[in-house]
Amino acid sequence: MSNIAPTSSTDTAAVLLDGLREARLGAAALAGLEPGAYARGHAAFELLSDQRGLIAEHLAGRLARVGDGPISVLSVGCGDGSLDVRLAAGLIQQVPGRPVRYVGIDPWPGSATLFAAKMAALTADELDADAYVSSFDDVPVDETFDVVMFVHSMYYVADVGATLRGALDLLRPGGELWVAVAPSAALNALVGVLAPPLEGHRQWFSADVDKAFVDNGIALDDTVTLDAMVDLSTATDEVLDFAVQARLTPELHGPVRAYLDAVSVPGADGRPRVPHPVDVFAATRR
Ligand SMILES: C[S@@+](CC[C@H](N)C(=O)[O-])C[C@H]1O[C@@H](n2cnc3c(N)ncnc32)[C@H](O)[C@@H]1O
Repeated sequence: MSNIAPTSSTDTAAVLLDGLREARLGAAALAGLEPGAYARGHAAFELLSDQRGLIAEHLAGRLARVGDGPISVLSVGCGDGSLDVRLAAGLIQQVPGRPVRYVGIDPWPGSATLFAAKMAALTADELDADAYVSSFDDVPVDETFDVVMFVHSMYYVADVGATLRGALDLLRPGGELWVAVAPSAALNALVGVLAPPLEGHRQWFSADVDKAFVDNGIALDDTVTLDAMVDLSTATDEVLDFAVQARLTPELHGPVRAYLDAVSVPGADGRPRVPHPVDVFAATRR
């Protein structure tokens, strides 16, 4: 632990992060989250954040620009479909009667089931939705799409470059690939220190995705950053586990909460908010 007294909340955060890093040095990796706890933690985390609304608004705008004809979308790592059902509903409302094909894939059966149920609840004849239990590497679809999107799922793939190339192969010519992924900023610095490795690799963040686009010669149309905020001052231990992507042991709760407090800024209502931006990368299949 550093002996230098911090002089600002940025310094305090750096000292606390160093302390966490030192505490973990040489220790066995923390346990990862089993899929049910991950999904519950994620759902509760979203309730404390304005990010999903920002992503929904941004992607709905992009979908509106794809055109008003029949449209097909593949959502990779769709989770429980909370985001996708908003996008699918928007597509139907935007152009009544237009055929909408919407496919979700997720490796966790519980999430794929919820995605399918949410899509079915739209009860729209023009909507042809399917859900598959699969990771992207084993993607079971044999069709092409107008849009392939990864919203907060690129962290987990084995090889980002191979995944981007595979995703482009699933697009019709002129189709669009959208990847929403967080940078390794204040919040995700905790993931870097605390999360266990995933099948031999760390989680990938925006810089890794950006580099993979460049290394694979895939031209980006644009990259947009959405500046979201999350109020973690009332987060349960399960939400904290989701935020750091690990099962925290009790002695880590205090330092993690102190770090989150140090990186917080006052929101419009005066409550503390942790910045958690998301970058949206967009590329077109030529
Ligand atoms: C943070 S959630 C995002 C869910 C949803 N897209 C959303 O924005 O609410 C990440 C999802 O990626 C899924 N996932 C993990 N590894 C994956 C892989 N290799 N391929 C596809 N999805 C994966 C997880 O099961 C989880 O549902």
